[in-house]
Amino acid sequence: MKDIIEIRKDFPLLQKEIGGRRIVYFDNAATTQKPICVIEAVDEVYRSYNANVHRGVHVLSDMVSEAYENAREKIRDFINASKKEEIIFTSGTTASINAVAFSFGERYIKPGDEIIISNLEHHSNIVPWQMMCERKGARLKVIPVTDRGEIIMEKYVKLLTEKTKLVAITQVSNALGTIVPVKEVTALAHQLGIPVLIDGAQGIQHCQVDIQEIGCDFYTFSGHKIYGPAGTGILYGREKYLEEMPPWHGGGDMIKSVSFEKTVYNDLPFKFEAGTPNYPGFIGLGRAIDYIRELGMEDISNREKRLLDYATEKLSGIDRVKIIGNAAEKVSVISFVIEGIHQYDAGMILDKLGIAVRTGNHCAQPLIERLGLEGTIRASLCFYNTEEEIDTLAEGIRKVIRMFY
Ligand code: ALA
Repeated sequence: MKDIIEIRKDFPLLQKEIGGRRIVYFDNAATTQKPICVIEAVDEVYRSYNANVHRGVHVLSDMVSEAYENAREKIRDFINASKKEEIIFTSGTTASINAVAFSFGERYIKPGDEIIISNLEHHSNIVPWQMMCERKGARLKVIPVTDRGEIIMEKYVKLLTEKTKLVAITQVSNALGTIVPVKEVTALAHQLGIPVLIDGAQGIQHCQVDIQEIGCDFYTFSGHKIYGPAGTGILYGREKYLEEMPPWHGGGDMIKSVSFEKTVYNDLPFKFEAGTPNYPGFIGLGRAIDYIRELGMEDISNREKRLLDYATEKLSGIDRVKIIGNAAEKVSVISFVIEGIHQYDAGMILDKLGIAVRTGNHCAQPLIERLGLEGTIRASLCFYNTEEEIDTLAEGIRKVIRMFY
């Protein structure tokens, strides 16, 4: 892997100082910083070949359409999906999950059917299913978690019945960093012919993802969490389901022909891509994928594992700090509470020290309540972070504690 000093030079924001301090950015689970190559790729679209995709016979439209479709191919290859037609562009993970909840629900769900999620989920993998259940008269079932923050597989197996029509589960908990054994979860559902959606929003940037190896039927992620532009999202869907599901939006580009009597929908993936997409964003996301592949996904994972181990050791050694979420398999996300100090107070003081962390329930309120908490402080690390930054965090936490005790 490239030297860390060189890697950090690729990210303009990491060079910035705020209030005379170099920012320590530990909020990568919320969004990641962007390498210069991604910023330049987006800039270049607007400067050099901006036009709408798939709509013109002119040269600019051809250029931008080609770059946009190349990005789709890069993403297909990155997650090892078998067909480009199975890669749908959306505005983010939330849009992808809502889309499946709507269209899958319309096509396959009847009153009395059940959808399984887990107690680890982000609100965006809870609320769309609740909305769908309300619309279709279906029921939501929840796989419980242990105090360590791992799903209880025996309970999951018991929830799988002939009433189950879909399992929708996260690959990685955004709040705790737990890695869910999604391949096993998928295989168990498939034994009963039940399709599986994996929310990869917190997995794709940390783990090598191979859709065919996982075997899932839907996989969702957001471009901005994997060093690409905001407003870009991916929905991978198995062709068999996408062919049968109705579109969730109607409009331009998703049709073959329109008359007032009848509209014929376009082929995949365009059937699900009504309206002008964020084409500069997807071209930028394609460049982000190139960048990650140049660094090497395995090297990224290994470096992040070392950072997690270092941070866990440093934070565990601080009196009054308790790490929340001790799953055997975790990505570089470390959630903690400080005894007797509210997470917002701690977060605000850390911010004054130039350290960006997230505080609160992390859009995973049912999980935080299950753990008997109101919230946590979350430091989410990625490959461009350093051991020195972790030392700064540990020192910052000690300062917070000294201010209160
Ligand atoms: N889902 C993002 C997070 O967990 C915003 O921080």
